[in-house]
Amino acid sequence: SDTEKGTYAHYMLKEIDEQPFVIRNIIQQYQDEQNEIKLSKDIRKAVGNADRIYIIAAGTSYHAGLVGKELLEKVAGIPVEVHIASEFLYNQPLLSEKPLFIFISQSGETADSRGVLVNVKKAGLPSVTITNVPGSTLDREADFALYTYAGPEIAVASTKAYTAQMAVLSILAMDAAIAKGIDTDFDAIHELSIVANAIEVLTDAKDEMEQIARDYLLETRNAFFIGRGFDYHVVQEGALKLKEISYIQAEGFAGGELKHGTIALIEDGTPVIALATQQSVNLNIRGNLQEVVSRGANPCVVSMDGLNRKGDNVVIPKVHDYLTPLASVIPLQLISYYAALHRGCDVDKPRNLAKSVTVE
Ligand code: G6P
Repeated sequence: SDTEKGTYAHYMLKEIDEQPFVIRNIIQQYQDEQNEIKLSKDIRKAVGNADRIYIIAAGTSYHAGLVGKELLEKVAGIPVEVHIASEFLYNQPLLSEKPLFIFISQSGETADSRGVLVNVKKAGLPSVTITNVPGSTLDREADFALYTYAGPEIAVASTKAYTAQMAVLSILAMDAAIAKGIDTDFDAIHELSIVANAIEVLTDAKDEMEQIARDYLLETRNAFFIGRGFDYHVVQEGALKLKEISYIQAEGFAGGELKHGTIALIEDGTPVIALATQQSVNLNIRGNLQEVVSRGANPCVVSMDGLNRKGDNVVIPKVHDYLTPLASVIPLQLISYYAALHRGCDVDKPRNLAKSVTVE
């Protein structure tokens, strides 16, 4: 059943492997018989009425929100702000005239996010929850809900919920574009099916990912992740994954920001994991890599077919520029998994962490 590990040593690995099926399931759930996007009229209206969307989330869901902002702005032309729930709760920014709140939460139970929802409802403002758990608190209390259909996620470190959240956000963005009459050549459903195949290729490459974990992460105290554009959001998630389960101090940085401080930390042999999946900034991120390599860093490059260069460690199959996060996160998840495994950590139940945090 869904909640059993079967032949897997850990839920995390099982859940990483489930991602192609999760994406295909989302495609099915959000498509009608005419192959059109199936989304409730109420949600379409709520999104259409908004002059600005406020995404509220915590942890990995926050990282999905960062990608969601890009999708909604680039595909549907709606301005979006993404906020950490606990920050928004006690330090609310100025709101636009017609805001719409989107709460992203795997569990639907995160207290910080719920705190914001309570205030939003008090203020009479509209809300949508994107959650993996129908019947959860956020699902029940928000005006509208969208589901991620990823099946139960047991491992504390979130994997399939993150890709599912981004998939649903891409569908929402495309739906909004259609509703607004925007002429977009982005076909979320079609592109997601390509993503599902790409994820499958990457989850089949476990031996390579395990070797990278052995080569770069067995002994190190720290690790840096760099990226630009969409890749910047994904490296933040990659760093979170690694620190959560392996306890290696890891941070994700914007490639161009390194020279403004962080590069001081680079020593001989410091692992720097770079994502290079964005055509528009490929030259820039390659330049940033040169900067750290010349200071002694040990570079590991995850690029995309067509943008790859000799010596890159992982080349993900070509997917749409806007959906690269769903594919490029897979190697980062797997590398984190094997790093934690070989460092003797409790992969599914890391110290100090809970799957859902129901206290503020
Ligand atoms: C906890 C979990 C994280 C998760 C975060 C938000 O801190 O350990 O993995 O990303 O909560 O959870 P949610 O259920 O709201 O997505």
